[in-house]
Amino acid sequence: MSAHPPLDDPDRLSSLDRHGAGRILIAFPSQCREALALTASPPLPPLAVRHLVVAGMGGSAVGGDLVAALARDWLPVPVTVWRGYGAPASLGPGTLLVAVSYSGTTEETISTLEAALRRGATGAVVTSGGALATLARERGLPLVRVPAGLFPRLALGYLFFPLLGVLESAGLRLTRQWERDEALRVLEVMGAELGPERPEAQNEAKRLALSLNGRIPVIYGSVLTEVAAYRWKTEVEENAKLLAFHGRLPEADHNEVEGWRDPLAAGFHAVFLRDPEEDEVAGSRVRVTGELIRAHAGGVTEVWPRGQGRLAQLFSLIYLGDWVSYYLGLLRGVDPGPVPVIEEVKRRLREGKSP
Ligand code: F6R
Repeated sequence: MSAHPPLDDPDRLSSLDRHGAGRILIAFPSQCREALALTASPPLPPLAVRHLVVAGMGGSAVGGDLVAALARDWLPVPVTVWRGYGAPASLGPGTLLVAVSYSGTTEETISTLEAALRRGATGAVVTSGGALATLARERGLPLVRVPAGLFPRLALGYLFFPLLGVLESAGLRLTRQWERDEALRVLEVMGAELGPERPEAQNEAKRLALSLNGRIPVIYGSVLTEVAAYRWKTEVEENAKLLAFHGRLPEADHNEVEGWRDPLAAGFHAVFLRDPEEDEVAGSRVRVTGELIRAHAGGVTEVWPRGQGRLAQLFSLIYLGDWVSYYLGLLRGVDPGPVPVIEEVKRRLREGKSP
């Protein structure tokens, strides 16, 4: 038996993480820095955007969720994050549709771009290649080509920051320079604090993974932090191969709180992603909800973001969740990187289509 606690045992970690998800996570801050320099070619034509739609699935849609969360404070136009085939009825001339797919092969996203172009929307694409890159080239659409070879969900830097750039060139400014600088600094500090080298006793991500292990996580966010709560859920599912759920306050206080009374709740662990700018009422709400849930849940934990700006706050919550889900996967004895069931769904659907 190893002398190390499970998450401090380098041999165990490298024998499980056979596809290097941990290395990608360590490099995430530099991925974000590099991504900030990527631009669209050709540039976006001048346009007055009346409606912004970001289309994507799974890991590639998260950049859209972040845009929608940041837009609440900044953008005078409505933002839709579209996950699915086709396009919403509200889409047409005056819509900027950015199709984001890391692989460029996701059929839902390709179908949305095609529908949007048919309906007279302005299209732009963020991808590493595939049919989406081909379509963008054929139609002369602004294309941000990002480096290939990562797991899509771990390429969030490449999928989000170029999106910011595309929007900025359309006059839709979501962040200021100091916020981007701060976000990168915060991520760099966290990278050093949360990686496998840092022992359990001083590693917030390892400690959180240990406390969640053996339970089903239910991650709650506020209006702002819901995007991070949903990301935690999907990262737990993909990296740890474990079901997880997310909820949103204040909405959950009008339905979900009752569900925690079930004896099965002892197998669930609530995590509240706090918002430092929440007002007193929102703060009391988290406290009261936590107290009521604590009587039945397997555990209740609060997590605070870092930084002053919204960008650093959201990215710090997301980066912490990525590490927590990675360690949770290792505790459960799985390789965090590959997602064979997602691949299998895609394979079967492709085969079902072939004559
Ligand atoms: C896999 C992952 C998935 C994909 C999704 C869409 O790491 O995160 O959620 O992001 O299946 O594929 P892409 O991103 O290639 O459009």
